[in-house]
Amino acid sequence: MDDLLKTALRQIQQEIDAAFDVIIPVPQDTRAKLVQAMRYAVIGGGKRLRPLLLCATADIHGVDRSASVRAGAALEAIHVYSLVHDDLPCMDDDELRHGKPTVHRAFDEATAVLAGDALNDLAFEILSDPATSGDPFTRIELVRTLALASGHHGMAGGQMMDLVAENETFDLPTITRLQQLKTGALLGAAVEMGAILGRVPPEGRTHLRGYARDIGLAFQIADDLIDHEGDAEAAGKAVGKDAAAGKQTFVSLLGAERARAQAQMLVEQAIEYLQHYGSEADLLRAVARFIVERDR
Ligand code: IPE
Ligand code: IPE
Ligand code: MG
Ligand code: MG
Ligand code: MG
Repeated sequence: MDDLLKTALRQIQQEIDAAFDVIIPVPQDTRAKLVQAMRYAVIGGGKRLRPLLLCATADIHGVDRSASVRAGAALEAIHVYSLVHDDLPCMDDDELRHGKPTVHRAFDEATAVLAGDALNDLAFEILSDPATSGDPFTRIELVRTLALASGHHGMAGGQMMDLVAENETFDLPTITRLQQLKTGALLGAAVEMGAILGRVPPEGRTHLRGYARDIGLAFQIADDLIDHEGDAEAAGKAVGKDAAAGKQTFVSLLGAERARAQAQMLVEQAIEYLQHYGSEADLLRAVARFIVERDR
């Protein structure tokens, strides 16, 4: 991993932890357990790749860092909520996440459902707050972008397709669509929200969208490869689950070698989309490379 990326990852991890620490203090009443579960899920774990992408895109366009970190925290709240629910017994039934017991294991199932719900809501609380942007048009565009990427048009829709994929045979275009929704939508929102904060007009976002689409797909192929041949200790979560569940992925369809080559090709293609940018986009280039090299 190059130094630029290493430093940026360390910085965003600290910034996101600090933001959540301030935004969700534990109340001194019987809601305490809910907020403790939210904090357990959202503080001190995860690579923070989505906030990193959002802030890196925003930085290119001169956005105030406190605004992009807040938007990054909102996006991460959605991502973490999706993981808390993804790990539930009714979904992937996982015991380990970020190297520690999953929320329903550390607390209980009902609390994990509520913590996920409340993190989902927290995202829009943060985005609609004037502290994120003083401009109401920017706030509504952020809210709408994240809502579209999270619900049935995006992540939740992809999760549904993913569950169906355990019992049905999907072809490559259908798997591609599944992955674009399940994982690509939130990664795309990261770049889009950075551009919104940077007041890049929609017609100026084409190259950034191309970049995001390609890294989104590469990202999920890498996740499937980690599940296929990765190490649970390094990954901080169980591996070997997709095959055990009979889940169709790029790896099951193409085999590991071709899947890896496909991910590599997508990363190179993603980087090509950034050719109009100079060195200010080096961090986005480094993130693209990291996405396929990672082991967690
Ligand atoms: C894992 O995402 C779940 C998928 C969408 C494939 P990440 O690998 O970004 O999760 P953390 O937050 O860094 O653990
Ligand atoms: C989960 O995908 C994606 C979302 C939560 C949207 P996976 O089920 O493959 O993620 P991991 O492998 O448990 O992190
Ligand atoms: Mg899953
Ligand atoms: Mg899972
Ligand atoms: Mg996985």
